[in-house]
Amino acid sequence: MSTIIEIRDLIKVYRTSSTEVIALRGLDLSVEEGEIVAVMGPSGCGKTTMLNIVGGLDRPTAGRIIVDNMQIEKLSDKDLYDYRLYKIGFVFQFFNLMNSISAEENVELPMQLAGIRSSERKRRVAELLEMVGMSKRAKHKPVQMSGGEQQRVAIAVALANNPKVILADEPTGELDKKTGYEILELFRKLKEKYGKTLVIVTHDHRVSNIVDRTVFIEDGKIIGSLDGKETKDMFSKIEEKHLNELSKSVSDKLSDKLNEKSIKNEMGVKNEKSIKDGIRDENEDNGEKIEKEKKFRESVERSLKGGVE
Ligand SMILES: Nc1ncnc2c1ncn2[C@@H]1O[C@H](COP(=O)(O)OP(=O)(O)OP(=O)(O)O)[C@@H](O)[C@H]1O
Ligand SMILES: [Mg+2]
Repeated sequence: MSTIIEIRDLIKVYRTSSTEVIALRGLDLSVEEGEIVAVMGPSGCGKTTMLNIVGGLDRPTAGRIIVDNMQIEKLSDKDLYDYRLYKIGFVFQFFNLMNSISAEENVELPMQLAGIRSSERKRRVAELLEMVGMSKRAKHKPVQMSGGEQQRVAIAVALANNPKVILADEPTGELDKKTGYEILELFRKLKEKYGKTLVIVTHDHRVSNIVDRTVFIEDGKIIGSLDGKETKDMFSKIEEKHLNELSKSVSDKLSDKLNEKSIKNEMGVKNEKSIKDGIRDENEDNGEKIEKEKKFRESVERSLKGGVE
């Protein structure tokens, strides 16, 4: 596998005449081709900001972003427009379809912008609507479709010019449980059948069924990650319990797992005994590590609480 997205030391500062918000403060992330990566973190931590910059919807203040061998922070406005049109598919929380035109016309639009000829467009629209299970709604306008149906069409729109990378910002946030699950299964198909790379910002714990990795952001930086199996183990425990029962004991168990992993991975502590000792004795000189770990744990818990129904 090769790296398709590489983000290094990404900084984004939003300035107005009176205020300054540092939304990203040195974020690093690499994504391999064909990977599904979930991005989680508390509200306001910078998830959308990061996704918008990777997708060429916004410009970074500093840092380097390479997507499919293109260094995107250096692109001119025209090249950035082409990048968005050809290289990236965006899926948003609120479906983002044009309300005045039909499903098939929505899917056709990015191809028109790309100058694809009519017969090829028609063929591909039919293929994409079939792929997302929406052939029967081709003539419907967005208001005549359910939320889940609109999101399927929005995914077909995102795929119109066959991008390698799909970026999704809370794609199941507006959908009921069953429909959200179906959308995630569709994402899985995009990876497995079509080799797409997906970065999905979400609070939805069901994403654990499809991800290769979950990264956690806090305060504009990645603070840790779990691989696919660890994500699944962690979230399957939560699924068993209703939000009210998300008891301390469960979060403690999850925290222990995270403690061990992130301390091992991030701080280079190899010996399990020393990890446990380290956690037990906050007075020792690994206090800083514990503080960092604690923040990670708290952030994960906040992300999860945001997503459990
Ligand atoms: N255009 C903007 N101008 C000023 N500040 C902004 C702008 N967009 C985002 N911010 C600020 O940047 C920070 C990160 O915002 P961002 O939208 O990336 O958060 P998020 O992690 O996506 O949150 P949520 O989970 O609520 O969607 C927040 O403090 C936000 O208020
Ligand atoms: Mg957001």
